[in-house]
Amino acid sequence: MKHIFQRGSDQSKPTFLLLHGTGGTERDLIPLATEIDAGANILSVRGNILENGMPRFFRRLAEGIFDEEDLVFRTEELLNFLNEAAVTYNFARDHIFAIGYSNGANIAASLLFHHQDALRGAILHHPMVPRRGIELPDLSKVDVFIAAGTNDPICPAQESEDLKQLLQDASANVHLHWENSGHQLTLREVQEAAKWYRQLN
Ligand code: MLT
Repeated sequence: MKHIFQRGSDQSKPTFLLLHGTGGTERDLIPLATEIDAGANILSVRGNILENGMPRFFRRLAEGIFDEEDLVFRTEELLNFLNEAAVTYNFARDHIFAIGYSNGANIAASLLFHHQDALRGAILHHPMVPRRGIELPDLSKVDVFIAAGTNDPICPAQESEDLKQLLQDASANVHLHWENSGHQLTLREVQEAAKWYRQLN
């Protein structure tokens, strides 16, 4: 997958897996990663799907309606990429934190829904429930921060509550943060994510 890897100054820190929103690129979220922890490695990936020229991480049938078969296929593809990248760049495979926005947050959530050891943690900006009706793995070692907007037209508030509940039912440690906003990524929620991340360590 097309990506950027930047080695951090402190290898006791995680590797941040950056996953952009629809129409974004691997450059978009690098400032967020630096804001959250400047010492961490960065592995920033570009989605392999193009929707009218806009990169995405999996196909959708319509706004908010996912192509589940492709979602599962792309989740495996990303997982394999992570396994290979950990060897190529020599970082700790068990210490990856995803930071995703929108479509990128959705594939990060899909990694959590399908695989116990895919991620050590995740910061999800405006995610949806990636899939319903499946049994999640045991996520008791996983920390998740969700940022949601009270007026998000793409992701209704109930969707964020459902995601929190499903992850908690799988024993993940979940914090749901609300912003008085829509679907956009706000500076305040990034600062809240940074605060949450710091109290983990
Ligand atoms: C998705 O398709 O992943 C969600 O609708 C969010 C987005 O617009 O990318």
